[in-house]
Amino acid sequence: MRMPMIAGNWKLHKTRAEARDLIEGLKSQLEGLTGVEVVVAPPFTALETAAASLAGSAIQLAAQNCYPETTGAFTGEVSPLLLKDAGCRYVIVGHSERRQLLGESDEFINRKVHALSQAALGIIFCIGETLDEREADQMFDVLRRQVRLGLKGVTPDIMKDVVVAYEPVWAIGTGKTATDAQAQEAHAFVRALLREQLGQAAADATRILYGGSVKSGNVDGLMAQPDVDGALVGGASLKAEEFARVACFQTV
Ligand code: 13P
Repeated sequence: MRMPMIAGNWKLHKTRAEARDLIEGLKSQLEGLTGVEVVVAPPFTALETAAASLAGSAIQLAAQNCYPETTGAFTGEVSPLLLKDAGCRYVIVGHSERRQLLGESDEFINRKVHALSQAALGIIFCIGETLDEREADQMFDVLRRQVRLGLKGVTPDIMKDVVVAYEPVWAIGTGKTATDAQAQEAHAFVRALLREQLGQAAADATRILYGGSVKSGNVDGLMAQPDVDGALVGGASLKAEEFARVACFQTV
């Protein structure tokens, strides 16, 4: 009952011409694919180009970040309203690279969640523990804190627009994927947290994506886990053929 989502986070990659090429490649390779929602998240500067290339296709557009205000004196920032205007359907928030490199707090991420909800945009809300936290047995505490604070004030109705992405920081860009069992354990825990916070129906309906070195060679096993509803893909989303193979995962 949860439509799988395969989302490509391009991070700081792709000029407008490269974005167009990648999307044209994806469109031809994914033509006719059903039963999975495919999303691409180019950098801000390529969003408008990407939206034009995606017109008429089922592939959805996402941005990688936003600022939680609509307009005003916020130099260098981009609001949900502007992202919607650029053609976005989703926005990624809480990515570990922003938490770590830019010091984003759970409270700030929570403001973004509410701002995006007000703008009627879908939200890809990222959480995940570092290697130190996992080795210190703090993984469950970290995930609990990130979900409680990041989704503070979120009602079951708002939650309909939220997709959670579990991305263990130690698996991002390292080639070290969580095992299928590690991913399932974390996802089941996150779903239990959602149940406590939002109730059974919202927890059952929420998609939880796995992220961290997902590629065509490991996606099938991850997607076969009962609580893994999709993938947030970094490096493997930068080439059309490889990302298309991820999107065409097999669970049998
Ligand atoms: P990689 O797939 O490159 O490990 O990146 C994962 C990620 O951070 C997606 O948001």
